[in-house]
Amino acid sequence: MRQLLVLFMSLIFSASVFANLVEQGQELFSKCASCHGKNGMGKSGQKAPMLAGQYAWYVNSQIHAIKNGDRANANTKKMMPFVKRLSDEDINALSAYVESMPRKK
Ligand code: HEC
Repeated sequence: MRQLLVLFMSLIFSASVFANLVEQGQELFSKCASCHGKNGMGKSGQKAPMLAGQYAWYVNSQIHAIKNGDRANANTKKMMPFVKRLSDEDINALSAYVESMPRKK
C-alpha cells in the first residue's frame, strides 16, 4: 500500500515537472512566433517551417545544430540571434512545448 502511494506521488510529481517544462517553453516561444507563427504553423514569407507537433528530440537537435553552427545557411542565420543565448534547459522547454502544440493544417 505504501509503495503504491509512493508510486502515485512520483507519477503526479513527474507529470507536474513536465507541465512546468511545457509552460516554460510556451513563454520562451513568444520570441519564435514572429517567424514560426503564434501557433507554430510557420510562415512561408519568412521561410520558417511549421514546428507544431514535431518530435521534441528533433526540435532539440535542430536548435542545437543551428545554435552551434552545424546547420548554417542564409535562413538559419536569421534565427541565430534568437537562439544563441538559450540554455540547454531553455531548449528542452521549447522542444517540449513545440511537440505539445497541435497541428492546425
Ligand atoms: C527571424 C526568424 C526566425 C526566428 C525568430 C526563429 N526562427 Fe526558427 N527558423 C527560421 C527559419 C528561416 C528556419 C529554416 C532554416 C532552414 O531553411 O534551414 C528555421 C528553422 C527552425 C527549426 C528547424 C525546423 C526543421 O524542421 O528542421 C527549428 C526547430 C526552429 N527554427 C526553432 C525555432 C525556435 C525554438 C525559435 C525561438 C527561440 C525560432 N526558431 C526562432 C526562422 C526563425
